[in-house]
Amino acid sequence: MKVLLIGSGGREHALAWKIAQSPLLEEFYAAPGNPGIADHATLVSLDVEDHAAVIAFTKEKSIDFVIIGPEAPLVAGLADDLRAAGIATFGPSKAAAQLEGSKGFTKDLCARYDIPTGAYQRFKAAEPARQYVHEQGAPIVIKADGLAAGKGVTVAMTEAEALAAIDDCFDGAFGAAGAEVVVEAFLDGEEASFFCLSDGKTALALATAQDHKRVGDGDTGPNTGGMGAYSPAPVMTPAMVERTMKEIIEPTISGMAKDGNPFSGVFFAGLMITAKGPELIEYNVRFGDPECQVLMMRLKSDLLPILYATATGTLDKVEAEWRDDAALTVVLASKGYPGAYDKNTPIAHIPDASEEAKVFHAGTALKDGKLVATGGRVLNVTAFGKNVTEAQARAYALTDKVEWENGFCRRDIGWQAVAREKA
Ligand code: AMP
Ligand code: GLY
Repeated sequence: MKVLLIGSGGREHALAWKIAQSPLLEEFYAAPGNPGIADHATLVSLDVEDHAAVIAFTKEKSIDFVIIGPEAPLVAGLADDLRAAGIATFGPSKAAAQLEGSKGFTKDLCARYDIPTGAYQRFKAAEPARQYVHEQGAPIVIKADGLAAGKGVTVAMTEAEALAAIDDCFDGAFGAAGAEVVVEAFLDGEEASFFCLSDGKTALALATAQDHKRVGDGDTGPNTGGMGAYSPAPVMTPAMVERTMKEIIEPTISGMAKDGNPFSGVFFAGLMITAKGPELIEYNVRFGDPECQVLMMRLKSDLLPILYATATGTLDKVEAEWRDDAALTVVLASKGYPGAYDKNTPIAHIPDASEEAKVFHAGTALKDGKLVATGGRVLNVTAFGKNVTEAQARAYALTDKVEWENGFCRRDIGWQAVAREKA
């Protein structure tokens, strides 16, 4: 099979590493890719916003299958255009990508199909939103409706914080994404991410993971795209997985199909496991980053035929097998992230991979033959262990061998699971 992978993050490096192990793979291209992905695929400097150029490339190279990693090209309709050109594509349509692209869309779907989620209202102006916050009181959650790179959400512990967040959204802090605001009840519990594939009809549960969204140790500081993750998430017991499939995932897949937006691709539910059971916080229509890195480490099966079955409507014919081991990833980010940070800072050394641990590249580039950090989140040090405690120890041992002066990481990724394992 000739494959083109779209994307350039740690998620795509993990996908590329796994796909490269497939005996079905004949030729492998990535656009734009990164220096880590270059170990597995030929990098192509395509402008992924130029859909005609992507299609022309797939024709020129007789690509059989395109895999889209990030959300932006999905929301922009790249999967629709590729499919219209007759190319098998992994990734949802623009209409189905609204599950992530619009929080209001997802909340309305939950209301229509009785999917458990926090009570909410949508607002297009500040005044009625402020009024609603006064009525509901704090804690309460304020969300920019559109894509804001994981930063458009404020969990407000006081009313004043909530009002300030509403003003930020309507004052344009998140651009067009904040033109509409969702105000949502605060859900109390432990979070987990639940990954599934769907071909529009069938849902296949993949695995669970736990992200760490806050920038600082002890889950403090502003939200980020994710500072580390581990899999599986112990809070997702087999009984909780079964409830999630029945109460949340299956009604979503059948509801999307009924509404004329069948969902094809991977998605994950951000769940809050509350005293009542699983409740939906949000959907994402792609693999999580950095959650994908731990999932790919744990996946035993060949990924390529599973993704192809998803794209071609034959998901009922495949299965995914997982290692029992835990995997954990630590994100190394540029100092200052998620705020402003220096670019092109030199990365002097990345340690070699071993059987148990590996460094995935995210925001890196080669400048004059030297490896530099170009993004906020730059490297993902990922390891296995018989439990999270062992995976954590191995991941930090490797992290400490990375030589990059402008980098930092959280030192407590996996703390909840480690505390559980000690108990
Ligand atoms: P989101 O971008 O919707 O995933 O929100 C980012 C983070 O904000 C989530 O991972 C949660 O930690 C938190 N959050 C979002 N919605 C709620 C809610 N209703 N109750 C409590 N925390 C929330
Ligand atoms: N790590 C969270 C996400 O990919 O949305």
